[in-house]
Amino acid sequence: MTQPSYTTTLGVNIDHVATLREARGTPYPDFKQAIEQAEAGGADGITIHLREDRRHVQDEDVYLARACVTTHLNLEMAATDEMLDIALRVKPDYCCLVPEKRAELTTEGGLDVIAHEKRVTEVCSALRAQDIAVSLFVEAKPQVLELSAKIGADIVELHTGEYALASGSTQQEIYQDIIKASEQAAALGLQVNAGHGLNRSNVGAIAAIPSLRELNIGHAIVADAVFVGLKASVQAFRIAMQKGEMMR
Ligand code: PXP
Repeated sequence: MTQPSYTTTLGVNIDHVATLREARGTPYPDFKQAIEQAEAGGADGITIHLREDRRHVQDEDVYLARACVTTHLNLEMAATDEMLDIALRVKPDYCCLVPEKRAELTTEGGLDVIAHEKRVTEVCSALRAQDIAVSLFVEAKPQVLELSAKIGADIVELHTGEYALASGSTQQEIYQDIIKASEQAAALGLQVNAGHGLNRSNVGAIAAIPSLRELNIGHAIVADAVFVGLKASVQAFRIAMQKGEMMR
């Protein structure tokens, strides 16, 4: 009997390791150690978000990550001149363009690709010209996905935040929209990622969607790490994802 092969990869977002460090201005917890532990636990990639207000990840963390990540580095950023300049110098494997609001606790929704088509296209072209793949963090909406492909993005990351917060029939409706969006984006030739608000309880259902390639998970992995350590937390998420994939 052939063994099933599991293909959904896990990008571990370690922003909140830096949140803990910045809360006290201490050198610990050590960012490099976090990268090593996440990769030792089975992370297929490391994701970091350099926010304009530098509330967690700092510029030097981005350079450090580029130097020591052995999997792939995904840099999340707003489509500003400052961030584009940093990305072109750091050369992450891919950049995920996200909307950013100063007062938000975390990214609150997908990028409005329709309203910002010109700017997103400019940033996308500049990154791709330097062989940096571009991911757009978007809502599961047909028009947005079509435009993302037209703009030349390589990847779309579907926003799962509302799915994670919802319950009952509303959650099921959002789930169906994510499945449809994932299939549409894959048919458009885009790599399909997803993320935001995922935890060990809800990740299985998302990992069960066959056209999804990678999940980006941060807060819940770091939260669990408080009790079990980062390596074990990543391992536990990988197991939860595999259980979901077995339902395909
Ligand atoms: N994907 C994107 C684009 C994000 O902005 C974030 C939050 O930084 C995540 C995934 C991870 O979300 P969470 O921390 O809720 O797992």
